[in-house]
Amino acid sequence: MFIHWGQSSQRGCELSWPLVGGVFSLPFCNNIPVDEYHSTAATFNPQKYNPQDWAQLAKRMGMQYAILTVKHHDGFAMFDTEQSDFSSKNSPYGKDIVREFVDAMRSHGIHIGLYFSLIDWHHPDYPAFTEADKPYVFGQYRQPTLKQWERFTDFMFAQVQELLTNYGPIDIIWFDGSWERTPEQWQAQKLNDLIRSLQPNILINDRLPGFGDFSTPEQFIPPQPPESAWETCMTINESWGYNPADTHFKTARQLIHALCEVAGKGGNLLLNISPMGDGTIQPELVKRLTAVETWMAKHSESILETQPGLEPWQFYGTSTRKENRVYLHLLLKPYDTFTVRGVPIKRVKSVQILANARELNYTKRCAIIDTLLNPDPLGELTITVPESALDPYATVITIDFTPENTDEAI
Ligand code: GLC
Repeated sequence: MFIHWGQSSQRGCELSWPLVGGVFSLPFCNNIPVDEYHSTAATFNPQKYNPQDWAQLAKRMGMQYAILTVKHHDGFAMFDTEQSDFSSKNSPYGKDIVREFVDAMRSHGIHIGLYFSLIDWHHPDYPAFTEADKPYVFGQYRQPTLKQWERFTDFMFAQVQELLTNYGPIDIIWFDGSWERTPEQWQAQKLNDLIRSLQPNILINDRLPGFGDFSTPEQFIPPQPPESAWETCMTINESWGYNPADTHFKTARQLIHALCEVAGKGGNLLLNISPMGDGTIQPELVKRLTAVETWMAKHSESILETQPGLEPWQFYGTSTRKENRVYLHLLLKPYDTFTVRGVPIKRVKSVQILANARELNYTKRCAIIDTLLNPDPLGELTITVPESALDPYATVITIDFTPENTDEAI
């Protein structure tokens, strides 16, 4: 679970980007004058913020970690920081949002991730983004003086230190925004070393330039799975923050298909939710999340703790596996039958619908000579799928094989 939430969620607009005038990649992001954007920090008071609800939702959906925007590019800290007054602690809410988030997630066994923007469009020494800096042009950023940058990096390091000292074990730190400065300016090596010394078991994403334990494709599924561990982050509509103007929602089916494809390629899906200003989740999202939850209740075994299944040439679909069980995710409706190729057909034990263990009929075929002489040939399996066995979102079929080299093998 990715959670993009900030003081600007009160207004119902994208996080941070409106203050620089919007950005091409976020089609529903409007332009808000800088001062006006920041002014709502003074009224941030999410009375219905209950991270227990989020944690329960994450748990029900089978999500294993949650990453909250503890500071986005707009510089507003959702935690109690001694480094500035610009925080939820100093807003009318008066509390440390991160503390409540961490406690709730931990109590439900959800691993904890903190999203921290390197960019800070509010800090005077960054220097802060002003109305005169519009329009935002990639590659053209007002640069600080050396003195300013020294002060800014001290401030930024101190905030990272607070986050990694005050909340117990943190599982993930998720940086963002490195593009505006060089790795040397970010002091990436020093930052990495500090983080590892404070939290030896933490994972760092690859947006700390030159470092990172996993890569983070954004808003798409990589055609070829990356070599490293990876996680793709994805929004339900086209916005990261709560933005009622954006009604381009993905369907529950699209979300489930994304989840299946990501799992089939060995990655994680970091699905974003955008709470509203009061801390609750808009009905359009709840509806979709509930559908994913219902699907996961019957199919999570085919997603969680799995490895990529078959090769793309073996099956027109995506698949995962756990030991001797292969999970086929049917993301297109089959015509009568479909075929899986290159599998050890003499060791097929059963073919079933995962959701209800319904047995499916199948036929097997391999080279004729192999049928007679090869005790463990690879061949094709043609599976019959009656219409009545199809799941409205994604049908999952299991193939169980007897293990290799056992007496059980036929
Ligand atoms: C981009 C955007 C940011 C968003 C992030 C999520 O880097 O700048 O708004 O938080 O993607 O991956």
